[in-house]
Amino acid sequence: MTEFETIKVERVDRVAILTINRPEKLNALNSTVHREGVAALDELREDDSVRVVVITGTGEKAFIAGADISEFEGKTPVTQRATFHQRTLFNSIDVFPKPVIAMVNGFCLGGGNELALACDLRVCSDNARFSQPEINLGIIPGGGGTQRLTRLIGEGRSMEICLTGDMIDAETAYRFGLVNHVHPAGELREKTLELAAKIADKAPIALQLVKEAVKFASRSNLDEGLRREVDLFAVCFSTEDKVEGVSAFLEKRKPEFKGK
Ligand code: COA
Repeated sequence: MTEFETIKVERVDRVAILTINRPEKLNALNSTVHREGVAALDELREDDSVRVVVITGTGEKAFIAGADISEFEGKTPVTQRATFHQRTLFNSIDVFPKPVIAMVNGFCLGGGNELALACDLRVCSDNARFSQPEINLGIIPGGGGTQRLTRLIGEGRSMEICLTGDMIDAETAYRFGLVNHVHPAGELREKTLELAAKIADKAPIALQLVKEAVKFASRSNLDEGLRREVDLFAVCFSTEDKVEGVSAFLEKRKPEFKGK
């Protein structure tokens, strides 16, 4: 694995943990983090021994405190627009074929919340805080905050978060459906890795197809979605893992999926 300046990657069995490593700036997302994060995901995508990716930030204070505000200075509409048309971490996570879990430790603000929203699951510590504070800077979210947040938690709640810029706590985020699980800070890593390991045991091609099908649900109408689901369900019948899964069930043993 390439060595990066702002990204650390470690492995725990079949799970890769990608850590954004700018603790002195509360892991704010600058252009280097985006570029290196995208490159790290490119490597993890090609590595068949990696089944699930967990994304987190260094330290207990912040997951990610947003886009790096110092990079906003001097940006023109044209250069700012181009930034989001490049490969960002947000869209690389969105199209990453394996499940990605955001492990949210502390502040999860602005672009940090947008990055968590691009992930497939969100698990947080009980001291996590979430917001889209862009309104306080006289701007609006630009990395999916108004779109993915609204699809996930509904218009009324999303509208209030984006209009006020206020932080919500972990319990509120759980109640809104923004996060899947909340754990005491000291147990966050262990519990998140338990969830990641459970998913990593499943059939990799089926995981990829689940991700594609579920994401399609919010981008299509019901008829298109149901048709896509049937097509993807049929694809499973071409895999060795489907044969293994069915045989293992009938033989009352644990399946050994190979991703074939
Ligand atoms: N961009 C750039 N730098 C950031 C940053 C961001 N989004 N968030 C924090 N930092 C930097 C601070 O400037 C500070 O750097 P310095 O020590 O060189 O001055 C360092 O990280 C620590 O942050 P600090 O503000 O001193 O910590 P705090 O505990 O007092 O406050 C926050 C924590 C998260 C409440 C506060 O940092 C904050 O509001 N950050 C901006 C959040 C935001 O608006 N994000 C959305 C951007 S669109």
